[in-house]
Amino acid sequence: MDDIRQELLADLARARSAQEVEEVRIRYLGRKGRITTLAKNTDFSRLSPEERKEFGSRLNDLKNMAAEALAKAAEAVKSQAGAADRAAVAAQLDLTLPGLERRLGSLHPITLVQMELEDIFHGMGFMVLSGYEVETEYYNFDALNIPGDHPARDTQDTFWLANGMLMRTHTSANQVRALEQYGAPLRAVFPGRCFRNEAIDPSHENTFFQLEGLYVDRGISVAHLIAVMKTLLSEIFHRDVAVRLRPGFFPFVEPGFELDLNCLLCGGRGCSTCKGTGWLELMPCGLVHPRVLEFGRVDTGQYSGFAFGLGLTRLAMMKFGIPDIRLFNSGDIRFYEQFPAAV
Ligand code: FA5
Repeated sequence: MDDIRQELLADLARARSAQEVEEVRIRYLGRKGRITTLAKNTDFSRLSPEERKEFGSRLNDLKNMAAEALAKAAEAVKSQAGAADRAAVAAQLDLTLPGLERRLGSLHPITLVQMELEDIFHGMGFMVLSGYEVETEYYNFDALNIPGDHPARDTQDTFWLANGMLMRTHTSANQVRALEQYGAPLRAVFPGRCFRNEAIDPSHENTFFQLEGLYVDRGISVAHLIAVMKTLLSEIFHRDVAVRLRPGFFPFVEPGFELDLNCLLCGGRGCSTCKGTGWLELMPCGLVHPRVLEFGRVDTGQYSGFAFGLGLTRLAMMKFGIPDIRLFNSGDIRFYEQFPAAV
């Protein structure tokens, strides 16, 4: 038994893997293992009761010792294997390699300007509402005092749908909808996408954004309109900007104006964006035509209002110095990446 004990310990000392430890276990404690056969082959009848007792007890000790030593050896090879794995990983790890770049998304320049405008208008007590990109002819034209045979329809080349509806050509389509829903007094802006069948150039797109404003209350005059426009522009550009008001015709305002912004890209000298004029048509506006108020079921004896249609895409061009409107819908990631996540 002493020989078996020593050989078992020597075998275990040589075992390098779980597989080799298992082989040792089979060799000693397996069905035909040395310890098992030693117990089986002993003729106990030839032993005296004392010898039997002594032999049995030593055999048990040997078995226990073997089981313990095997368990310890199995544990030892397992932790050695873990250390070897870790060493192998460490050998491959190169801390000087560049890290994985995490690309942060950024907000679209129009979204940035829209958010800023919404803040400014909230500050002046306006609600921010949104309407429908697919509109009825009624809200886009008729309710704005532009009947079917009116030449003003020709100024907005429209995408008509097969079902008789249309892609709204301007956010003014929200005016009568909002008056119907909220009545007077009303102070609201409507940012949104508009669509026109345009010949595309550096300042014209077929899909662009406007922000409509509508202010209806008692005694509203051109003075209120000018005050709101001035506050708006000085807040947007954080500096003095030159503007000019020209008479402008829109069937849904009377009187109507065109507010032009001195081109911020060329400083008024003339460039491709302002078509060489030094001015950029930014914001048509005027006092809401009484017929539009009537379409919105507003009492024109008590209420009047002003409205404006800000070219949101063009404003973003001025604010960020973007020379060509086609970049907005280009899908070119290099363009979008230049804008911060917030302003
Ligand atoms: C209108 O759309 C009127 N609904 C504006 C209005 C509202 C007048 C309320 C009076 C009262 P206009 O077609 O001029 O007007 O367009 C308004 C602005 O939208 C323009 O000044 C311009 O900044 C922008 N815009 C128009 N067409 C395009 C286009 N194809 N691409 C980019 N911006 C455009």
